[in-house]
Amino acid sequence: MSYLQVLDKTFIPLLSESQILDRIQNIADEINQDYKNKQPLFLVILNGSFMFASDIFKKLSIQSRISFVKIASYKGLVSSTENPITAIGLDQNLHGQDIIILDDILDTGKTLYRFVHDVVLPMHPNSVKIGVLLYKPKACVFDIKADYVGFEIDNRFVVGYGLDYDGYARNLPEIYQLKS
Ligand code: XMP
Repeated sequence: MSYLQVLDKTFIPLLSESQILDRIQNIADEINQDYKNKQPLFLVILNGSFMFASDIFKKLSIQSRISFVKIASYKGLVSSTENPITAIGLDQNLHGQDIIILDDILDTGKTLYRFVHDVVLPMHPNSVKIGVLLYKPKACVFDIKADYVGFEIDNRFVVGYGLDYDGYARNLPEIYQLKS
């Protein structure tokens, strides 16, 4: 792996494909163990999580289902400090279900916090866990924790393995971080 140029930015290698896939195997093993008598429903937050979700899902031996959602915020008619969010593509009733949310990265935590509190919990699932490939502990300011974490990383912008800069670099099998 060498330097990567994406548009006007230069990135340096952070995680190789084999490091990522080895860690994903460990997480899948944990999930297989934790949910061995359950049938969880995975909710995958698009776009950045598509590779992570695909690789983890291939390694599961439990019976499970997967659904993909895109988070959007919309301007309400009433003025409020926060716009409400909606999960496009979420057509299941989550009542009584064991939910595992998968996201590419837990950065400030805003996306996951809002999704869990505004969308998932009001439907009264049986349980909710969160799995993220990357976690930036120094950036996270919302009260949200992931149960399965691939890698803790520095508070630097990353691309590759589904993550993008202005839409580019999602295709790379490795992860790169912005060169300082
Ligand atoms: P928050 O701050 O809500 O971030 O936890 C959630 C979403 O923002 C995107 N994100 C990134 N995308 N490189 C990226 O390509 C990054 O370093 C990065 N940090 C946050 C991502 O979609 C994440 O789900």
